[in-house]
Amino acid sequence: MNDSQLTSLVKDMTLHEKVGQLVQLATPFFKGASDKGQITGPMQEMGLSHEDIENTGSVLGASGAKETIAIQRKHLEDNRLGIPLLFMSDIVHGFRTIFPVPLAIGCSWDLDLAEKSAALAAKEAAVSGGHVTFAPMVDLSREPRWGRGMESTGEDTYLNSGFARSFVRGFQGDLQQDAYKVASCVKHFAAYGAPEGGRDYNTVDMSEWMLRESYLPAYKAALDEGCEMVMTAFNILNGIPSTGNKWLMRNLLRDEWNFDGVLISDWGAVKELLPHGVAQDEKEAALKTLRAGVDIEMMTSYYFKYTSELVEEGLLEESTIDEAVLRILRLKNKLGLFENPYREADETDEKTFILAPEHRNVARELAAKSVVLLKNEQALPLNNNNNIALVGPFANNTDILGPWSWGGSAEDTITLDTGMKHRLNTDHLLIAEGSGIETGTEQQLQEALQTASRADVIVAALGEHSDMSGEAGSRADIRLPEIQLELLKQLKSLGKPVIAVLFNGRPLDVREVIEHADAVLEAWYPGTEGGNAVADILFGDVNPSGKLSMSFPHSVGQVPVYYNQFNTGRPKDAPDAQIRFVSQYLDIPNEALFPFGYGLSYSTYHYSEMSLSTDHITPDEKLTVKVNVTNTSETSGEETVQLYIRDLVGDVVRPLKELKDFKKVTLKPGETTTVEFTIEESQLRYYHADLDYKSDAGEFEVFVGPNSRDIQSRKFKLGNV
Ligand code: GLC
Repeated sequence: MNDSQLTSLVKDMTLHEKVGQLVQLATPFFKGASDKGQITGPMQEMGLSHEDIENTGSVLGASGAKETIAIQRKHLEDNRLGIPLLFMSDIVHGFRTIFPVPLAIGCSWDLDLAEKSAALAAKEAAVSGGHVTFAPMVDLSREPRWGRGMESTGEDTYLNSGFARSFVRGFQGDLQQDAYKVASCVKHFAAYGAPEGGRDYNTVDMSEWMLRESYLPAYKAALDEGCEMVMTAFNILNGIPSTGNKWLMRNLLRDEWNFDGVLISDWGAVKELLPHGVAQDEKEAALKTLRAGVDIEMMTSYYFKYTSELVEEGLLEESTIDEAVLRILRLKNKLGLFENPYREADETDEKTFILAPEHRNVARELAAKSVVLLKNEQALPLNNNNNIALVGPFANNTDILGPWSWGGSAEDTITLDTGMKHRLNTDHLLIAEGSGIETGTEQQLQEALQTASRADVIVAALGEHSDMSGEAGSRADIRLPEIQLELLKQLKSLGKPVIAVLFNGRPLDVREVIEHADAVLEAWYPGTEGGNAVADILFGDVNPSGKLSMSFPHSVGQVPVYYNQFNTGRPKDAPDAQIRFVSQYLDIPNEALFPFGYGLSYSTYHYSEMSLSTDHITPDEKLTVKVNVTNTSETSGEETVQLYIRDLVGDVVRPLKELKDFKKVTLKPGETTTVEFTIEESQLRYYHADLDYKSDAGEFEVFVGPNSRDIQSRKFKLGNV
């Protein structure tokens, strides 16, 4: 259909039919759903009539060609104007083939492979009848207590923005040209990753300056890449719930950023204006969110209940409804649903593409690239002629898909013991659980110690179960559960090399793990191929190259701790710093235990002195930074060379350093390559006190290195100084 046809379709619709397009309900409300059609209980609870359902515009969570075709077919029979449904669901890091959680993908620093993973997820979703994915989640987070950090790519604005673009390209591509794509929906707008205390859904309060400088750019990057939808966040932002926040949704998103796509509330977030205490009643909640420009209300029915009244009472213009409906119909049109409401749903293609070898291979490759080697004192890689004890609650545990992997399943998942068995003959592999994740028995412990005592080397597979992170998964104590730390200590007391492999959804306080293990691999939730990927790393088939995209704190008392902090007026490491009256803790360091960008390899790399093409540029000139990187080991490897910049004097305080570029280089033993970066004025811009976004003439420092801590620097000037 063309736009004038869509506009006239809106004109043909009754107000109730229009409002129906603004509502999204979960699958069971729809006839044809696998659970034999509509559920009357919740329908009555929500005050929904059958006519409401027949006019509803989109479905949450349906999947499978058979189910989505059945629902769509029934809906088209019942819907007076034959307006097709949109099918939306959370395909965040895979549909049925589950890729590593996004925080793990963030540690791969591999934007291309991230895009590939999203494209494969979109393919599996599209043939299963999906139209929209609620991803990418780009909430910047400096909060390891928060459970949903695993769903983001970490703490850095530049890296998160790169991944946001990659995920949108992978999921969505060009919806009207490319096959097997789904529309993407960037979330959660905005700054959901900064809740006070790291407690999910809690208050977010920050200056507009900090919001624009650090938290907003990744959403904007997704939208600049063409992302079709935005989802509101549960949290308040500066006193107003995002879902009813007119400044955020109208002034910024729609007017300043010119976003004319579809804005959907998070689950029940319209209703939550009531407990937030900014709506007197349901009707006011509906009014505030409609005025804020929220097009689709997810899983509540206030738009159905109150929009007619609001229009009749003159509190709401029907034109506001018409605009929202048109945006939704345009998205349906972009997806080709008016011409083909079943799109690419196809049971034969499902069998061809879902969990296809290529998909598994990419999942395995990306999982291995996402693993971060935090410590290695000559313990890795393993020698497969040794007797190896694999001990711990994750030795044989399919709970390695992570949150938001609802399409994945245990039977598809390669556990660590299976992955290791693919590499070892089984009489060399001795397995014992040793403890549960949070509980354990003396018998378990003794059996594990007995097993481990017969091995040459011990692999301790430890971690958090997946509901210890994810939504509503905040933890105040971010260490491994005590029972696992005790297991590790006991294993170490056997006097053999111990390698700890961590399966978890947040940066942990790993001090005790580092103390008792000779090597530590952060494996996150590596997904369907996790066991194979970790085994590939353990035995050296893959040389670890992951680099942390979120700092590991020394202790939770330090949180939030992140690499691009400000210097303060009393930096403790200033040359003239006093002993006492400086910004410090009396009991722990200021710095993270493992900083942003950190990750070891089986290779070692030497960085030459960096050089600049000049130490002074005008705003229209560029300077080149060069550094030679040599692989000084006997093992080929991939290194991520990072470039940071510090603006030494600003209109507002400027971070000690900010990631501005990175390059991944693969080096054979002894090989040297010259890595070049270009710096130009646009990379030096920032939000001033008056929120102008521009650069200043002045002096800068540029850093190059393997992480945000072990770096060398040079100075240069911009402009007439
Ligand atoms: C959840 C999440 C959101 C998800 C939505 C639909 O509460 O906050 O990320 O997309 O509901 O499942």
